[in-house]
Amino acid sequence: MAKYDNSFTDELRQRLSLVDVISRRIQLTKKGQNYWGCCPFHNEKTPSFSVNEEKGFYHCFGCGEHGDIISFTMKSENIDFKEAIKELADMAGIKMPEYKVKSKAQIEAEENYFQITEKATQIYQDLLYQDIGKHALEYIKNRGFSDDMIKKYRIGYAPKNNIISARFNNIKIDKLTATGLVRIGDYGPYDFFRDKLMFPIFNAHGQIVAFSGRSLDGSEPKYINTTDTELFHKRQTIFGFNFARDAIHKNNRSIIVEGQIDAIQMQMHGFPETVAPLGTALTEDHIAILCKSNRNIVFCFDGDNAGQKAAIRACTLVLPFLRENSEVKFAFVTGGKDPDEILKNQGESAMRKIIDNATPLIDFLWESVNKNYLVNTPGGRTSAEKYLKDCISKIQDKIFQNEINEEYNSRKFNQWHKWKKQEYKPDVKLPDIDVMTINLIKSIVQTYPEITEKYIDFLTSLNISFDDNVQKTSLDLENAEKFIVSFKLQRYTQKLESEKQQLLKNALNGEKYDSELLEDLNKKIEESNRKLEMLLDMNNK
Ligand code: UTP
Ligand code: MN
Repeated sequence: MAKYDNSFTDELRQRLSLVDVISRRIQLTKKGQNYWGCCPFHNEKTPSFSVNEEKGFYHCFGCGEHGDIISFTMKSENIDFKEAIKELADMAGIKMPEYKVKSKAQIEAEENYFQITEKATQIYQDLLYQDIGKHALEYIKNRGFSDDMIKKYRIGYAPKNNIISARFNNIKIDKLTATGLVRIGDYGPYDFFRDKLMFPIFNAHGQIVAFSGRSLDGSEPKYINTTDTELFHKRQTIFGFNFARDAIHKNNRSIIVEGQIDAIQMQMHGFPETVAPLGTALTEDHIAILCKSNRNIVFCFDGDNAGQKAAIRACTLVLPFLRENSEVKFAFVTGGKDPDEILKNQGESAMRKIIDNATPLIDFLWESVNKNYLVNTPGGRTSAEKYLKDCISKIQDKIFQNEINEEYNSRKFNQWHKWKKQEYKPDVKLPDIDVMTINLIKSIVQTYPEITEKYIDFLTSLNISFDDNVQKTSLDLENAEKFIVSFKLQRYTQKLESEKQQLLKNALNGEKYDSELLEDLNKKIEESNRKLEMLLDMNNK
C-alpha cells in the first residue's frame, strides 16, 4: 500500500463533507446533532446508521460498522485505500501528491537551504543594529516596532552590497541560488535583496523559507519577495501563520489582513489570530490552510474599490469551504487606512469595533450583488440572479447550500420586487375581499415566493398590504397555488360580472347597447366558471 502523508488525508477530510459523500449512496436525514439513514453495510428497514458531520465519523448501531470518509469509500465501493483516496481527491478537485521517499540528496538539500536562510537572517538581524543599518532601524522604530517586536519577528537589514554572496563564499553557488537569496548576473553572483528592511517568512514549523524586503528609499516596488523556490511556494504560504496558529485554534477564528506589517501589528495588539497572504492575491490554498483549524474567518480589506474587488474574490474562494456553522465575515477599513494605521492612530478598541462590525458573508455577497448589478431592471436582475446562483453552487455542503438559497430567494422577493408598493387602480369596482381570504393570501405570499413571482400582477392588483409579517401557511405548495388560481378565477368572474352589470345599467339608461359585447361577456363568464369548477373538482379528488 502506498503511503500518503497525513496532511493529505487530513486535507481530504477537511475539504469533503462526510454527509455529502455518504448521501451519494444512501438517503440521510438530520435528527438532532447527527444525520441518520439505513445502513449500507447490513440489511435494515429502520435507520440505525448515524453520521456525525462535525467529527467526520459514521457509526451503525445495528451492525457496529464505523469509520471515516476514507473507510466509507473503501468499504462501500469495495476498493483499496489508494483507490479511495484517488476517488475522494477527484471529488474534492485536488491533486494526489506523488508519495516519494525523500532521497538523501533531497534531505541534504533541505538542510542546506534552512542553514543558509537561518544564517542569512542572523546576518540581517545584526546589521540592523549596526551603523550600516541605522536608517532601516530608524524606519522600523518609526513604524512603531519595539526592540522586542523586531527580535520576535527577526526583522533585519540587507545592505546595498552583496553580503550573502560574500559571506557564504565557502558554500557552493547553486545552493545559494536555490534559496533565492543570490542570483547570477553578467558579472557573477549578486544579492537579490539590497538595501531592504528584511522580514523573514517562516513555515508552520518556524523555519525560514523566504524573505520579504521593504524598500527604504521610497523606490518601487515597495516590497519584493523571494520568488518561488523548491521550499517556498508563495501561493501556499501565509505570513504570520507560525505565530498565529495557536491563537487561531484558541480564539476559534482567523483574521486575514492585506499587509504583513498589518499582520504583525494586529498580532501584537490584541489580535494574535491575524495573518496576511504574501503579496496581494489570496489563494484557495491559503484558505485551505486556515480552514484546517476552523472555518471562521474575518477578512479585513481596504474600503476602497480595490479592497471591494479583493473581498469579492475572497468570497468566491471561501464559498467551497463553508459549512452550516462557519462564520465568515468581511471587515472594511475605510479612509485609505490600513489596520496598522488604525491601531497606531486610534488604538485597539477602534480596530476591534471594525472587526466586531464585520459583515457576514451572506450579507456581503448580497450587498455586492446589489451594488454591481442594476437590480431595478429585469435584465440586471437576471444577471444578478445568475451570478448569485453561481456563487451558491460553489457551496459544497448541500444542506447549507439549500439554506442560503432560500435566504436569497426571500431577499430577492422582498427587496427586488417592489411590487408590493405599487398602486393599482381597478377600472371596475369589485367586492371587498374578506379578512380570512386576505390573511390566507398573505401567508401564502410569505411562505412561497415562487408562487408570488408567478402571480405577481394579480397579487399586486389586490391592493393588499404585504408589509407586515404573518404566519406561514400550512398549505403545501400545490394547494397554495390552487387556492391562488381559484381565487384569481373568482375575481376574474366578478370583474366580468360587474362589467356586465355596468353594460346592462347603461342600456337601461337608454345608452347604445352593444349586444355582441354582452354575448362575449356571457361567454367569458361561463368559461371562467367552468374552469373554476374543474379546479375545485381536482381539489376534491
Ligand atoms: P500595501 O501597498 O497595502 O502596503 O500592500 P502595506 O502593507 O500598507 O505596506 P506598508 O505599510 O506601506 O509597509 C499590501 C501587501 O502587498 C504586498 C505586501 O505583502 C504588502 O504588505 N506587496 C505590496 C508586494 O508584495 N509588493 C508591493 O510592491 C507592494
Ligand atoms: Mn501600511
